[in-house]
Amino acid sequence: MEPKLCLSLSGEIIDTKEKWEKHRREELRYLLEHYAYGHRPKEIPDKLSFEIVEQNLLGSLKYKRININTDGFVFPVRVYLPVSDKQVPCFVYFMHHAQELDSDIDTTPNNLYVPIDEICARGYAVAVIRLTDIYADDKNLGTYDEGIFTVYGPTPDKRRDTDWAAISAWAFCASRVADYLSTDSDIESKELAVCGHSRSGKAALWTGATDERFSLVISNSSGCMGAAMLRGKEGEHIDFISTHTDWLCKKHSGYAENEEMLPIDQHMLLSLIAPRLLYVQSSSLDAWADPSAERRSCRLASEVYEMYGMIGAVLPDEDAIECNKAYHDGSVGYHMRDCEHSIRKEDWDMFLDFWDKKR
Ligand code: GCU
Repeated sequence: MEPKLCLSLSGEIIDTKEKWEKHRREELRYLLEHYAYGHRPKEIPDKLSFEIVEQNLLGSLKYKRININTDGFVFPVRVYLPVSDKQVPCFVYFMHHAQELDSDIDTTPNNLYVPIDEICARGYAVAVIRLTDIYADDKNLGTYDEGIFTVYGPTPDKRRDTDWAAISAWAFCASRVADYLSTDSDIESKELAVCGHSRSGKAALWTGATDERFSLVISNSSGCMGAAMLRGKEGEHIDFISTHTDWLCKKHSGYAENEEMLPIDQHMLLSLIAPRLLYVQSSSLDAWADPSAERRSCRLASEVYEMYGMIGAVLPDEDAIECNKAYHDGSVGYHMRDCEHSIRKEDWDMFLDFWDKKR
């Protein structure tokens, strides 16, 4: 049985949004940090600056590459915009290494994973962050002595079981991108979305949970330690993710043999997005991520949307779920594409339709 979302550690029943905001939301964030994503050395940089290093037209789009300097750690973000007199909403997209190798986004924006031309044609901007510019996602170093960890630490010899790991570091940098976007006069900074696929979908959810400036949070096939409930899940579990990746804090790996004892589950992560818009995509053939476990957490997290007088996920019973159908009636959007583990233009069409309808 999963831990209850609306029962605080002190035993208080949380049944109003006031109680939720006062007593439970911060508590859940703390628990998710402590048992999964790790505590960050700081939330807000002491020194932050932006340098536009390139700015030109790329086909029919405006393109800018900006170096973000957060306390001495520098990483680039690439922003693509429609040519428009109006400020536009913006998607922040995490690109992971395999996608980066497959796309040359400095010269040809469109690629298999994020159809930048089409997104811009529909009146939105896209800001792309590459995970490897922050901390490698393609190798499991286990050392945390590269990238952002060299600036923020902790040094490998001082690392505690509950210190931040890669997902939290990627999410921290997405927040710095939001800092930049709020200074860019081409962007409607009250309308930011964050999106990622798989490991990046996990990072997108943690970004949304920790930074309320994102009004839409999109998880594409994020699976284990993303949108999928851990309890009762098929496919990947803690034993695999903790031994093959650097994404979560060490304390989390201690629950590999007794997941039932873990004080959190993933409906808690999704609930931290409420009352903002949330979108969960599943790939039908992705047993490793487990689409049904992703839907279960959407259903459970909807309890918090209801406290706000809103409707969360509007999903039929499990045996009536259809592939390629938009479940867009509530504030938690969902679709399952009939495909292997992937993100494609067809998913973006759904995300764009949802945002067009809800914003
Ligand atoms: C592995 C990992 C998943 C992850 C995926 C990805 O399959 O086990 O948790 O989502 O890689 O990021 O592509």
